[in-house]
Amino acid sequence: MSILSGKHILLGVTGGIAAYKTAFLVRLFKKAGAEVKVIMTKEAEEFVTPLTLSTLSENPVLSSLTDEEKNWNNHVELGLWADFMLIAPVTANTLSKMASGNADNLLLTTYLSAKCPVYFAPAMDLDMYKHKSTKASINTLVNYGNKFIKPGSGELASGLVGEGRMAEPEEIVQFLEKDVLSQLPLYGQSVMITAGPTYEAIDPVRFIGNHSSGKMGFALAETALKLGAEVILISGPTNLKLVNSNLKLIAVQSAQEMFEAAKSYFENVDIAIASAAVSDYRPKQQFDDKIKKKTELLTLELEPTPDILKYLGSQKNNQILIGFALETSNEIENAKSKLERKNLDFIVLNSLKDKGAGFKTDTNRIRIITKDDILRFDIKSKTEVAADIFDQILKMNSK
Ligand code: C5P
Repeated sequence: MSILSGKHILLGVTGGIAAYKTAFLVRLFKKAGAEVKVIMTKEAEEFVTPLTLSTLSENPVLSSLTDEEKNWNNHVELGLWADFMLIAPVTANTLSKMASGNADNLLLTTYLSAKCPVYFAPAMDLDMYKHKSTKASINTLVNYGNKFIKPGSGELASGLVGEGRMAEPEEIVQFLEKDVLSQLPLYGQSVMITAGPTYEAIDPVRFIGNHSSGKMGFALAETALKLGAEVILISGPTNLKLVNSNLKLIAVQSAQEMFEAAKSYFENVDIAIASAAVSDYRPKQQFDDKIKKKTELLTLELEPTPDILKYLGSQKNNQILIGFALETSNEIENAKSKLERKNLDFIVLNSLKDKGAGFKTDTNRIRIITKDDILRFDIKSKTEVAADIFDQILKMNSK
């Protein structure tokens, strides 16, 4: 999933030959899950048809201040709709008008009223690009807080070779993604999360496991990604899926495998959350062949699995370390003692007594227990619970 997923992108297209590339640009934004609306100048319509861009964006393309019935195309509303405005390609002419506050078409009036971040990707012939007035326009726009997507060098439509080609659509998308990510509170930080159950093999077909679905851990991973983090999700067997270029998903089966994975990543992460329901015991002996049914009693000897969270607590340097607790009695006391014993920054307590909390449900009711505080929350979706947990992490992170 791209960070642009669900975002509203307003694309302004002006009249340069690079306008033909906006068809690819719109496709890439749509593929990233963004919603796109396009505004064109009259001159841009000579280079790429509004029909092409309206078909690809699945929205009408606007180019004048009024429509055919003389209804006003509300530029203020368009500006407010947008999470980002991108003007690509932007010609020397539009650059200069933007820099001077000229507002003689829909694109410029929308630009002037937009409150969202504005990106611009110039495209023009090399001498126009080199001209002092063009450089001055770019500097002015950057000083106004707009974001400049530098043109590339190469063959130009005039046949000349030099700087002035609009950045490639892929580069523009990457520029936006990186810029959006870099403003998020967990940008540059890595988060390791353990999730799901573990399966402890008895023989080739049987195991000791539990009812954990992995939903809480996956919701935490999704939230961390949305906050801009790089995420390592170490998950026991689940049916859940999550794809994101900033996610490393490590599928494990047993507590031992989860332990090995957690051990190898912990040192280099900033935040670790143990939300997995790790089996506390495993069969001492694993049978190579399926155990045959017999009439007499079968005794399995169990040995403890490694306590992953306790190990992480003992190795902790500057990481924020968070554990989960599910208690059936003396909840607060037990959770507090776990907080100390495992050297945690806070522990998330979920109760089996609450309806709609715990395994397999989509909701959870938690309490966050820190060294000197207990925060109580209502029953919420696991996504909202994950947001509450990260709110607390962000508070600690900013200290
Ligand atoms: O001590 P208890 O097992 O109840 O602690 C629960 C917390 O410890 C959870 O955060 C769970 O993910 C973690 N845990 C672990 N390794 C184990 C058992 C529990 O990381 N073997």
